[in-house]
Amino acid sequence: SVSVQRLCCIGAGYVGGPTAAVIALHNPHVRVTVVDRDEKRINAWKGKHLPIHEPGLNDVVRAARDGLCGRKAEHERRDYANHAQAREESVRQPNLFFSTACTQTIAESDMIFISVNTPTKVRGVGAGRATDMTALEGAVRDVAMHARPGTILVEKSTVPCKTGQLIKDILEAYRPGVSFSILSNPEFLSEGTAVRDLMRPDRVILGCESTISGHRAAAALANLYAAWVPRSKIAPINIWSSELCKLTANAMLAQRISSINSISAICERTGADVSEIAKSIGMDARIGPQFLKAGLGFGGSCFRKDIASLTYLAESLGLPEVAAYWQQVITMNNFQRDRFARSVISSLHNTLRGKKIAILGYAFKKDTGDARESPALDVIRILLEENPNSIAIFDPLCSEADIVRELRAVDSETEIMQPRGPVEIVSDPYTACADSNAVLVLTDWDMFKLRKSNRAVQSKVEEHQFDGAAPTTILQLRHKADKIPVPAATLLTPPHTPDMKGASLETEARLMPEPACPPECV
Ligand code: NAI
Repeated sequence: SVSVQRLCCIGAGYVGGPTAAVIALHNPHVRVTVVDRDEKRINAWKGKHLPIHEPGLNDVVRAARDGLCGRKAEHERRDYANHAQAREESVRQPNLFFSTACTQTIAESDMIFISVNTPTKVRGVGAGRATDMTALEGAVRDVAMHARPGTILVEKSTVPCKTGQLIKDILEAYRPGVSFSILSNPEFLSEGTAVRDLMRPDRVILGCESTISGHRAAAALANLYAAWVPRSKIAPINIWSSELCKLTANAMLAQRISSINSISAICERTGADVSEIAKSIGMDARIGPQFLKAGLGFGGSCFRKDIASLTYLAESLGLPEVAAYWQQVITMNNFQRDRFARSVISSLHNTLRGKKIAILGYAFKKDTGDARESPALDVIRILLEENPNSIAIFDPLCSEADIVRELRAVDSETEIMQPRGPVEIVSDPYTACADSNAVLVLTDWDMFKLRKSNRAVQSKVEEHQFDGAAPTTILQLRHKADKIPVPAATLLTPPHTPDMKGASLETEARLMPEPACPPECV
């Protein structure tokens, strides 16, 4: 089979950067270059502070990019990112590079990953549902014009089924008669656990055309993965199945969240407990326990857009029933946020005028600084309609600039940021909560969780734990409860039940007259 010496990855984002770094780490003989048009992003990848936060990513990038793998003791304490390095000497040749020289790198490579953004179209035909292929088309055009004949092109981006054909058409239009191989290799990593997911994937899907050159190309890519993934987990399949299986996987995961959320709405009206239900049904081996936490619903840059893409695909194929079925998953997701935001308003006597709301956590889940498609945004949007005096947001990782960008996209006309608007982004949770009338915990950051020893309170609040958000108030807040005036702030964690309405920080503080605790018990 073809042996890959130089790999180019177009797109230095959440997928391109970590994926390229892990491949480089495990294939020291392959020169891996990640290219992007965004110079700022490339410079960040080259520098000390990587542009994205993922546990373990610094170690992997440093090892492959800088040729370092010393500090053995530190590595040994971690259970990923290391076994490959441990096998090697303490110094290796750097083989991971970041560059803005897209065309030159494309021209020098024998395999090219396309991991550019594929968001939902915002205007024109299929707006709100169809996939915006602009970035992908641009990348393929660059490949068509500059790549050597025979280069293997790998779709890493999530794309609609049949995109392989579109890529072929673009290549043929720009380089008639020149042959390229096209593979589909969808990425299943989750933000927040990207390195772990890449290091120990459940499976690697390789979609290829059933031609000799297609199989050869797939074998070349399989060899790169086989450096650390067992062959039994590398599955070569038909290219269209491969494209569609990524959309299907995300749709099925999101569907479970919407399904349990729909049950949470019934629970709140009946006195049944959604977490008991989730636990009970999760013990059924056919159902399994994952993705069954009721809450604010799914967020992040993928689930909503991938389901939208699936519904658009179904509709374009003349299958309106299929489209309507999946559309309902999004409808239920919106319903859940709406319901939560309205319960916040109603528990504050249906008016937010003159009141302050603290929001702890903005990211759609813990351990990521990705501010895109956060459920918090929908909640904030609804709260803003009630003209609150202020909304103070604290998130340990999302940058202020990213949050502001997301908020401004909701309403570009009115100024919502302080000093002229009500919203402020603060750098610590105490400032956020000070003088607030309600504290909403919207991300499941560990720092917002209760200490293990606080069983009584923990079980009380964990009843309402949900996927993508935290179960309770923050521990540190409780310790300092006497230092910050939080007059009867209502603590709200979705999904909201009548029981929780009474829980105030004051009550909690009374329940927990604890001395300050060392950080390790958090
Ligand atoms: P991202 O937006 O973080 O990164 C994409 C990068 O591609 C950007 O830095 C952009 O500047 C660059 N780019 C766009 N066109 C380019 C061109 N012609 N030449 C050079 N650079 C170009 O996107 P992210 O999150 O990494 O997603 C990439 C793809 O992976 C999407 O299709 C997404 O659906 C998929 N995916 C994302 C996952 C996630 O957790 N973020 C997980 C699995 C798949």
